[in-house]
Amino acid sequence: MLKLSQPNIDDAAIAAVVEVLRSGQLVHGQECETFEKELAEYLGCGDVILVSSGTSALHVALMALDIGQGDAVIVPDFTFPATANVIALTGARPVIVDVRPETYTLDSDALESLVSGWKGPERLRAIMPVHEFGFPADMESINRIAEAHGLAVIEDAACALGATYAGGKAGNLADIGCFSFHPRKTLTTGEGGAIATCHPELAARMRRLRNHGMERTPSGMQFFEPATNYRLTNFQAALGRQQLPHLDEWIQARRDLAKGYLSNLAPLVEQGLLTCPVWDDGHSWQTFMVVLSPSFVRSDVIAALREHGVESNLGAQSLSVIGIYGDQTGNSTVGPQLYASGLALPLFEQMSTDDVQKVCTALNAVLG
Ligand SMILES: Cc1ncc(COP(=O)(O)O)c(C=O)c1O
Repeated sequence: MLKLSQPNIDDAAIAAVVEVLRSGQLVHGQECETFEKELAEYLGCGDVILVSSGTSALHVALMALDIGQGDAVIVPDFTFPATANVIALTGARPVIVDVRPETYTLDSDALESLVSGWKGPERLRAIMPVHEFGFPADMESINRIAEAHGLAVIEDAACALGATYAGGKAGNLADIGCFSFHPRKTLTTGEGGAIATCHPELAARMRRLRNHGMERTPSGMQFFEPATNYRLTNFQAALGRQQLPHLDEWIQARRDLAKGYLSNLAPLVEQGLLTCPVWDDGHSWQTFMVVLSPSFVRSDVIAALREHGVESNLGAQSLSVIGIYGDQTGNSTVGPQLYASGLALPLFEQMSTDDVQKVCTALNAVLG
């Protein structure tokens, strides 16, 4: 079975983890601090704060901006629900805006009309664009709208470590960027995540928030505010450190495979059987998702592909359709379509062009 994705963990990475395990220094420590510096250098930002997941990264970012009861934060209608869940957990309200059909990212025209017509009752505080599957959101428009209306921007770059936009790295294009190191991501530490920022005061607050609201001062541990434990372990950091030097090469391999998909699937697109995402030079291709024509039942297509030895799955969720953030149906059309008909196909850097050919041949047989 050709899997949807596969972590890329070599013997050197395993040895690095074993070394940390043997050292007995298991919780946050030197490996984490070194990985934070290496990631900050890679992203070109002032600070990186490692945390226990992409979800905790987003949660800490919201807490650091004091977002809570009476506030609202804008999210796109096609993402993993963690993006909106953390907003709801702070007591604020996630406000859902539609995405674009060719990029699956926040529609900045719909964003602009929502923000300029905002009448409350909540205080609009922030925009949380998602670089969905590694496709960089339209950050120029998003940052412009945010600046004009005094809003913070938190990038959900969970899928997008290594993606680029206008010469910068995704996750370092706004106030705060959040990454996930879940095994479906190109760089994985099992569970894990990171926060990037160029604001030193926010960085200091977020370091404290991931560690019980505590700081070590010359007079000992001091607790400044209620918070939680979102730390990463040293052995997870060791795993991540081994992968980071390979990341750009892996993303390049994914770009080549995505190009193969786009050209092999062109005949199916011409026949109106599916649509593909547009090409973008900065896309990091964490996932390759096509959108089936509504005439197909996706679960049947997934079952038939499995018969051909190809794993596939839905791509992500429409927040308005899952309906757990208050009734926000009717404002978007694209997100619900992507949720209903999106089909993620195998994509990981260890795949060959023959594997891509195999998936396309299977898809052709199933849809044709
Ligand atoms: C867009 C997006 N945001 C947030 C998350 C949450 O990340 P984690 O699973 O590391 O908590 C994910 C994970 O899939 C994601 O895809």
